[in-house]
Parts: sequence; C-alpha cells; structure tokens
Amino acid sequence: MNIKEIIDVYISFFEKRGHKRIANSPLVPENDPTTLFTSSGMQPLIPYLLGEKHPQGDRLVDVQNCFRAVDIDEVGDNRHTTFFRMLGNWSLGSYFKKEEIPMLWEFLTKELNLPKEKLYITVFAGDGGVGKDNEAFEIWKTLVPENKIFFAGVDKNWWSRSGVPDNMPVGEPGGPDTEVYYRFDDLKHNSECKDNPVECECGKFLEIANSVFMQYLKTEEGFKELPQKNVDFGGGVERLLAAVEDKPDIFQTSLLYPVIKTIEKQTGASYGIKNYELRIMTDHLVAGVFISSANVKPSNKERGYILRRLLRRSFDNLYKLKTENLEPIIETIVQQYKDTDPYLINNFEEIKFTILEEEKNYKGTLSRAKTFIDKKYPGKEAEGVKEISAEDAFLLYSTHGLSPTQIRSLGYVFKEEDFAVLMEEHQKLSRLGASQKFRGGLADTNERTIMGHTATHLLHKALRDMFGDQLHQTGSNITTERLRFDFNFDRKLTGEEIEKLEDVVNGKIKENLPVHFEIMPLKRAKELGAIGLFDEKYENDVKVYFVGDYSKEFCGGPHVDFTSKLKRFKIIKQENIGNRQRRIYAVVGE
Ligand code: ALA
Repeated sequence: MNIKEIIDVYISFFEKRGHKRIANSPLVPENDPTTLFTSSGMQPLIPYLLGEKHPQGDRLVDVQNCFRAVDIDEVGDNRHTTFFRMLGNWSLGSYFKKEEIPMLWEFLTKELNLPKEKLYITVFAGDGGVGKDNEAFEIWKTLVPENKIFFAGVDKNWWSRSGVPDNMPVGEPGGPDTEVYYRFDDLKHNSECKDNPVECECGKFLEIANSVFMQYLKTEEGFKELPQKNVDFGGGVERLLAAVEDKPDIFQTSLLYPVIKTIEKQTGASYGIKNYELRIMTDHLVAGVFISSANVKPSNKERGYILRRLLRRSFDNLYKLKTENLEPIIETIVQQYKDTDPYLINNFEEIKFTILEEEKNYKGTLSRAKTFIDKKYPGKEAEGVKEISAEDAFLLYSTHGLSPTQIRSLGYVFKEEDFAVLMEEHQKLSRLGASQKFRGGLADTNERTIMGHTATHLLHKALRDMFGDQLHQTGSNITTERLRFDFNFDRKLTGEEIEKLEDVVNGKIKENLPVHFEIMPLKRAKELGAIGLFDEKYENDVKVYFVGDYSKEFCGGPHVDFTSKLKRFKIIKQENIGNRQRRIYAVVGE
C-alpha cells in the first residue's frame, strides 16, 4: 500500500460511514491572522467545533497538508518531520467515543491490516480539572487486551492547539484524547526507555493515531462544556505508511527514501553515516517545496522567515557535504508527491526558481557577513583566530540571518553564554509576539476583526466591478487593527482609483445593507455568480455570504449583520508584492 492508497482507503471507509469529504485547506491559511501555517486538520474547522453549522453536515473527513514550525528542531530522528499530511475525521456532535473507537480500530486492523499484537493504546488519566477517561478505557477493553492500554496525563493525552490546559487561552477548545501506537520490533530501546508507549522516547513505539474528544472550552472560570461533543481525529499519513511498511524510520519508507537516495547520489554521502544531515535536508526541502508552492517567498518576516530558515538550514547541510546541486533533489520531491498533490507539477518552475534564488541570496549573505567581520576584526584571519564578540555573532544571526551553527561553521568563535543570553532575550520577545498573534483566534469574534472581514468582501466586489472579474483575491489577513487584501493586478492603483474604491465601499456602508448567509449546492452558488475558489471535487454544499444584493461570496464567516456597523472605510497603503500581485491595507471603524 502506498501513501495514496492509504489516503483513498481512509476517505472511502469514512465516506461509507456517512462522512462528507471536505477539501484540503490551504497550507497558508486565508483570512486567519492567528497562524502562519495550517498545522492540523482541525484548524480550519474551529468555528464548527465551537458550534457553527458546517455546510457539509456533522460528519466530515479529509486529508490535510500540515506544517509545524515548532518541530523544526526535532527533525533528525527517525520519526519527526515539519511537513506531513494528516488524515482527519470529525463528528460535530454526531457521534462520540463508542462509535469513534471501534471505527478507528476497524480502519487500522482491517483496512490497513496492521497486526493487532503490535498496537498499543493510551487513554487520559485525568488532570487539569477533568476526570479520568474510564469510558474510553472500557470501550478499548472490548477490543484489545487490558495490559496494552496505558493511562497518561495532560502532557500526553490532552489535545488543544496550544497544548496542555494551562497553556490554553480563553476561547480555545480542547479535550482528552486516546492514542494508538505501533510497536517496531526491529528497533531496540535505548537505555533510558521503558518498554511501554507512554515512557518510550526512542521511537520504538510510534504514535500513529489520535482521537481527541473535543468537548471543552477554556473560559475565565475554567472549563465549560461546548454546545456539542465533538470528535477530532488526526493520523499522520507518513507515520501510518511507516507502520504499514513496518519501517522504523519514516525516511526509509517508499515516500521519502527516493529523496534520500537522490541526496546520497548528489553528495556522495551515505545515509547510514550521515543520516542526521540527510534527514534534515529531506524534511526541510520537502517543506520548502510545499511552502514555496503556496506562493510564500523567503524573507525576514513571518512565513517568509520560516521558509528562509528551512531552506538555509538545508543548504548548510548540503554545503557541509560539499555539494550545491539542488535541482535533482527538488525534482525527486515533486515526483514523490505528485500523485497526491498534482499541482506541484504545474508549480515546479516557480518552486525551483524560489529555492534556487534563495540559495543565491544565501551565498551573498555569507560573503557579506565575512566582509563585515573581516573589516571589524582586521588582520585576525592571518592568525587563523576569528574570535568575535557575542554581540557581533548575534548581529550575524539577527540581521544577516545566519544560524548559530552557520556562524560557528564559518570558523568564528564567540562567548557562547553571552550569545545565549542575547538569544533568550530575543526569543522572549518573539514568543510574546506569537502569543499575542495566537490570542486573536480564528474563532476570533472580536468585533473589529469581524468588521474587517465584511469590509474585505465589499472591497473585493468593488475591485472586480472596477477592473473586471479576472481580478480575484490571492490572499487576505485581518487583525483588529487593519485588513490586508492581496489580488492579481500588475500596476499601481492611481490616487483617483483609490478614492473611487473608498467611495464605493463607504457608499455600501451608508446603505446599511443586511448581511446573511445561505447554505446551497455549489452549482446554485455558481449560477448566482458567487465569488470564491471552489473545489469542484469535494464540495457539495457551500456557505455563501450575501451583503444585500451587492456582494455574494463563498465564506465561512462570521460577518457583521448590517454594513453600517463598519462606519468608515479607508485605504492606508498599497504595495507591489511581486508575481503581478498587489496588496492593499485598509482600516474600518471610526
Ligand atoms: N487535532 C489532533 C492532532 O492534531 C487530532 O493531533
């Protein structure tokens, strides 16, 4: 069974059980100021887990491309990757533990044919104000021997986007989970490991499936029950493939081993000896391919920064092995993923350009960094000593974008403790930024964010009326301060055009148009001329938001109920963002 077959079998198994397939959401979320990348299947479903009605019903299934930046430093072992695909099935108040657990077991043991004796279960032990999950335990007992079921606390068997209950912001949903682990007999535990899935750290027990019983909402007063009891299931396809192929190293599965082989060929390095470097290169370039394909360009900010970091880290490893030829590696990655993600073929030239261009830039950065240091420490290189101050090392990190490893590998030495202090300070600031970003919440029902969302629909329509229907949204990001709207357009808007756009949108605000949504078949939405990127294959019913008779747009919401709530709309900036696209920043409200 290859990766595509696993996905197909899973989807049809759940479709037969009343689930509707929903489309894979973009890896770079639209209209979501909270996250840089989609990192789990449930993320695009937050409003529905919180109680909003989903147009496809209350049983959903999909496979979602995910990227987890937090795992960058974990990559290098036999099981962690930053990019992966997650199988997901959801019950939005339709079924709960006694249906989910047997369905999951049937899928794993009958559809994937995983040997029952190699499967282990973990169940929530109770903690953080929520009791032990005896119900899940009793259900599992009817399926597996009791000595293969283990209890664990919030660290292992609780799931929310922000982790354990104490880390969850108010408004965040979460719940206890139950996980399935696969045991690899070919792997020996390391000396610290205990022979059970809760205490093993070496990957002999690999988590392959996670059913979250998402029934709680964090409030100021503690946990409150959500209006419905949800199931949020996630299973990493790459890990399931490792179990199906009984390969204790996901980099040696039929999906990733061809990439490793290509790197071996390019570098002359052997996987058995340089497995750490080759795994990092493989993972980071795979993630780099997918992120570039989502039209992100390497930069020093947010998504662009993550892409830059991934690519530069993979270049570092490539240079260590004294090779520079990236093209065959990128080609193999696209070949390996094209069956599940055929658009990679069309985007191939653009992806290649992005990665190779960054490599050129990186070389420039390295040489500028060298010049900077050589000027500042003249003569030192003659002695072969390149001791630089921790401040300068930090400058190479923060402004030249070099990683500490790269700084060291250029030969520079610096006071590591002083550097660590500067780094800690810097990380504190970025954590603060990240947590503020997170608090916005996709389920952000902040009034100003909702206003920005409705204004975005008005702006989109006004732009199309002005320039034609070939113009469409290519990106959007809304915060409480402003809205940002990207669209395909290859020149600067004139002062008059900006004014006219403002006048049209402000006119619609004055008209006090009512806003409502309707759930309708895709065909009907198209007949009505609703704007949106429809995925022909999976969506039967779609949700369309109407702003009076003026705008009709496919959207999850939420929106204001009447346009007068927006008060006033003003464009504050426009930018060229490359690729024949422009960006507009605007504000609403007083
Ligand atoms: N949302 C759960 C996870 O990401 C299923 O593991």
